[in-house]
Amino acid sequence: MIDIHCHILPRADHGSSSLEDSLKQLKTAKKFGVSSIVCTPHFYPFNDSIDRFISRRDKAYYELSDVNDTGVKLYRGAEVRLTTGLSRHRKIRKLAIENTNYILIEMPSSVWSNMLLNEIVNLQSLGLNVIIAHLERYNPRQVQKLMALDVLAQVNAYSLFAPVLGWRIRKYIRESMVTFIASDTHIYNYLITYRALKKSHFILGSNFNRFMDNAGKLLI
Ligand SMILES: [Fe+2]
Repeated sequence: MIDIHCHILPRADHGSSSLEDSLKQLKTAKKFGVSSIVCTPHFYPFNDSIDRFISRRDKAYYELSDVNDTGVKLYRGAEVRLTTGLSRHRKIRKLAIENTNYILIEMPSSVWSNMLLNEIVNLQSLGLNVIIAHLERYNPRQVQKLMALDVLAQVNAYSLFAPVLGWRIRKYIRESMVTFIASDTHIYNYLITYRALKKSHFILGSNFNRFMDNAGKLLI
């Protein structure tokens, strides 16, 4: 399995507060059958700079890579909060998943203005493919507007086991709106999230395999 959304790097965000935590997460990922991970710490444009973020993330990535004896491949990425003006950052492409032009975008929980949605179009015009993180979390009416923008979508495996969100994910899959499934693991829920990723394979069957194929193509 390939996990394209997870918070596993030590002290890069609130996902893991130590190298020990990160190793626990990594070993659990391996135990549940994950072979590649895209590390996607949060990037919040309103209280961080891209340079500062990249330097913190890369330091954490090398720290974990140095002690990684699991055989799980680690790639660098980010979960980027969408804000107006985001596309104007000169170094925005640095936030794409390593060696790709795919960027993982987290939407704010507020109502999305047209100006905000237009940022997605701006990112796309820079040649970036936008992947919306955990699509099931957002108001379905707002999601309709998003999908009209030709974005890709990722869902969280553990949401599949929650009453409303699980139903929503199944609906989105039926309507061909989903491209990826991932763990979105943090240290506080790493066991549940990896167990859910594995379990979702049994539940989603060929759809799950397709999502993993999609993730594999991303990392080639
Ligand atoms: Fe996340």
